[in-house]
Amino acid sequence: MNLLYNPNYPAIDDLRDKARRRIPRFAFEYLDGGCNEDVNLYKNTSELREVELKPYYISNYAGADLKTELFGHTYDAPFGIAPVGLQGLMWPNAPEILAKAAVEHNIPFVLSTVTTSSIERIGEITEGKFWYQLYHPADNALRDDILNRAEAAGCQVLVLLCDVPTFGYRPRDIRNGLAMPPKMTLRNILQIMGKPNWALQTLWHGQPNFATMKKYMPKGLNMKQLGLYMNQTFSGRLNEEKIKPIRDRWKGKIVLKGVASEEDTDMAIRLGLDGIIVSNHGGRQLDAGESSIHALAPIVRNYKNRIRILFDSGVRSGPDIARALASGAECAFLGRTFMYGVAALGAQGGQHTIAILKTQLRQVMEQVCCDRVSDLPKHLVNEQHRMRT
Ligand SMILES: Cc1cc2nc3c(=O)[nH]c(=O)nc-3n(C[C@H](O)[C@H](O)[C@H](O)COP(=O)(O)O)c2cc1C
Repeated sequence: MNLLYNPNYPAIDDLRDKARRRIPRFAFEYLDGGCNEDVNLYKNTSELREVELKPYYISNYAGADLKTELFGHTYDAPFGIAPVGLQGLMWPNAPEILAKAAVEHNIPFVLSTVTTSSIERIGEITEGKFWYQLYHPADNALRDDILNRAEAAGCQVLVLLCDVPTFGYRPRDIRNGLAMPPKMTLRNILQIMGKPNWALQTLWHGQPNFATMKKYMPKGLNMKQLGLYMNQTFSGRLNEEKIKPIRDRWKGKIVLKGVASEEDTDMAIRLGLDGIIVSNHGGRQLDAGESSIHALAPIVRNYKNRIRILFDSGVRSGPDIARALASGAECAFLGRTFMYGVAALGAQGGQHTIAILKTQLRQVMEQVCCDRVSDLPKHLVNEQHRMRT
């Protein structure tokens, strides 16, 4: 067992509980919540957990190999850290903590455009072993400058986000007056005072800011101006005309994130992209949508081997990763899970969370007698399996 595994928190739910106790409510609710009535947030996990695996016990078994090849790199496990915005609001230096843990464990780490560490800082920490998620800028000069910075920092894979054409409707964040840096309403001050460890750490590390975007932003914006600035700076809605020039100038691999339909998968293939992440943003954008695992099935059926198919939304454990892979995804990404880990355990949170997931996934593979992650689909209990019994 990894030395940085902390036996007091063996489950992701333990980390979530501890995170809830340790950080102010406005920060926890921003991390934990979905949108509208949270219907899709819950469906993502509950429908993923309907996927069942078949064990084959009487067989020769060589042991579980978690290694996974993606875009020319062999990773040590078939899961990665999804891009999350405003991470420093939940715990200071969260992106750095997770990026370091990802490099040490040799799994993919994706940096968000709107998080609290810059492209350059993460490039330095990881020696270029990171992926970068671009929110599409409205201005082409800004787009090109960000892409140049990502390339110079060694970014391995560019992730284009397509599922935020408008901001999700998130009642908790509205109620909490969520803003960057945190708004000092009486309510928020009281919440902060109740979390002295978070307050001290945040004071010590300084107010979080949008580190990658900072150099383009006018100084001294108040909250309202900041919101307006962000709205004007990014044009969330992607189309062919926006994707083509990026494909032309980015020499490395490009993955489209937020795909939930066969139509968008088809478009990604036609535009020469290398992969998709089937995702509904962790249920934070379209409450009336399908769960991500339901969206995955027809995409795998019709497009497997024509584009790399990755997955996120709702994954909270090693068995969940096995379920997503058995359903045809080649790698699963986790957003909230890793942030629960860091909010709960600070600098140890990344390592600990990865250790839990690896241990759980290995146990599932050993239990069902699966040697390689690419063989997990052979264990999927599907209609054919059921008909045989
Ligand atoms: C607090 C929070 C902030 C997020 N910010 C971003 C972001 O800046 N860019 C992005 O591409 N996805 C963002 N996402 C979505 C994640 O990358 C990922 O799709 C989602 O968390 C997966 O669902 P899960 O949390 O159930 O694992 C965010 C998710 C959360 C929970």
